[in-house]
Amino acid sequence: MPEMVKLTDVSKSFGGLEVLKNLNMVVSKGEVVSIIGPSGAGKSTILRCINALEPIDSGQIHLEGVLFDPKKTNVHKYREQIGFVFQSFNLFPHLTVRRNVTLAPLMLKKASKQEMQERAAELLASVGLADKVDAYPNELSGGQRQRVAIARALAMDPKVLLLDEITSALDPELTGEVLKVVSDLAKKGMTMILVTHEIAFARDISDRVLFFESGRIVEEGDPETIFKNPSNERTKRFLANFRK
Ligand SMILES: Nc1ncnc2c1ncn2[C@@H]1O[C@H](COP(=O)(O)OP(=O)(O)OP(=O)(O)O)[C@@H](O)[C@H]1O
Ligand SMILES: [Mg+2]
Repeated sequence: MPEMVKLTDVSKSFGGLEVLKNLNMVVSKGEVVSIIGPSGAGKSTILRCINALEPIDSGQIHLEGVLFDPKKTNVHKYREQIGFVFQSFNLFPHLTVRRNVTLAPLMLKKASKQEMQERAAELLASVGLADKVDAYPNELSGGQRQRVAIARALAMDPKVLLLDEITSALDPELTGEVLKVVSDLAKKGMTMILVTHEIAFARDISDRVLFFESGRIVEEGDPETIFKNPSNERTKRFLANFRK
């Protein structure tokens, strides 16, 4: 499969703290990669660097074979190709669900209002919110808001979707609804990199799992191997905490 996201020798420090250390990672087109690991490992930082929300200190990031060059790349155009969903939904409270979804594409893409409204209705239906297009975010449950945030990211037709602990603010029932949407996207072939603490979900959905600690990939492999038979002591200890 062709490469979608490639990180080559990426390093990143905050002050004296080295958060990513010569990180190498390739995500292929259509691949679903989960990143797991302890708090502070640098998981969110990886996603933020891929999305150019954080500058890297050294190394290279390629998106679909094209180098992100901090001096030359138009960062807005670059970001339009990447969908990012956070733990906190960041919807605009004063806009309806439909307008939250259509806002960016109407500003940035050449689609007409009519086309975008139809597309928004389709996307909202695909995340199970056909009846909420005219609602405001504060009229929705947390799980519904998060599904709007996913629809909003998809409205830009991203090449890759980055998901940072998108269910950690939700109770278990709402988590299930959101994970169902993500798993549908995986089946449709969406390339995704997700940071998650949902171990069972990561096992079901991922093509590959990376265990990350102190800015490095400590272990990686297919979910069966990582979750059932990790070879690294640190991975074993981390996963043991989830089985208690
Ligand atoms: N903007 C920033 N300025 C300074 N330090 C930062 C900044 N962002 C992150 N850090 C530090 O970098 C390290 C990695 O943070 P990061 O958010 O990537 O961890 P994480 O693996 O996502 O953790 P968690 O599971 O708690 O979300 C942490 O020690 C954090 O304090
Ligand atoms: Mg994080």
